[in-house]
Amino acid sequence: MNPSHPEHDVRADLISYLDFHVEAGVDAALDEQPHDRFGEAEAAPQRELAPPRRAAPDDASPFRRELPSREAPPKEPPRTYGNAASAKPGEAADDARARAAQMQSLEELEALLRGFEGCGLRFTAKNLVFADGNPQARVMFVGEAPGADEDRIGKPFMGRSGQLLDRMMAAIGLDRTGAYITNVVPWRPPGNRNPTPQEIAICRPFIERQIELANPELLVCLGAPATQTLTGTKDGILKARGRFYPYRLSDGREIKALATLHPAYLLRQPVQKRLAWRDFRMLKAALDGGR
Ligand code: URA
Repeated sequence: MNPSHPEHDVRADLISYLDFHVEAGVDAALDEQPHDRFGEAEAAPQRELAPPRRAAPDDASPFRRELPSREAPPKEPPRTYGNAASAKPGEAADDARARAAQMQSLEELEALLRGFEGCGLRFTAKNLVFADGNPQARVMFVGEAPGADEDRIGKPFMGRSGQLLDRMMAAIGLDRTGAYITNVVPWRPPGNRNPTPQEIAICRPFIERQIELANPELLVCLGAPATQTLTGTKDGILKARGRFYPYRLSDGREIKALATLHPAYLLRQPVQKRLAWRDFRMLKAALDGGR
């Protein structure tokens, strides 16, 4: 259509322009002014990477807050890279592991993540989504990655999936004061796409350290990405769910990780809620039996 034609439908053009953005993942206005985050990252001065960490068998402590201080990191020349988008995933994952291991509390870990530039997702996300609920709880739920609502609010499971998760927890007498909730990846992938294996590899040391520092008795993996990342199984979620897997902390202790269906999947396939209900009854029995 010719835009200068008097009957040109400007409204239809604007709607299709907005549709295009929504399909491309630009589904929320975050600011009045556009920002070129990649350009800003390119222009940022190079930053130092943490030196690689030496093996430290007593990295994880069974204690929640008072963890032993670590030996001083080895003196090695710092490596550098420009912006995160151009960092090699393996290098960024090594850097993440070295840094995460040095964190002695959840607060330190959150602060580390706020400054971490090794994962490109942080440049497209509005907020870091670290955790919600009670870090002292006996049970920790781990999802995949934040969506639009979580990105806007800065907390996990805030949208429709979160409301369903709250109802599922309530069915076994839990709420967010009695559960700690987080995701494998703490930044929203643009357009709610799945996180890539590289992004998961970079974020994995952080969720592992978060689990060690929160020190729950039981983990609940919501959906395939969390289950595969935390248990190592390659099975799809319909096969993997309904089982407890051993989850080994770096101090050698083992806790149990229950695989179950993701609430977002249950919203699309409500008939499968009966399977999730079975899993949640297993969780309740484990919590009751573990007292
Ligand atoms: N889905 C997830 O996996 N995590 C959230 O926080 C929200 C939706």
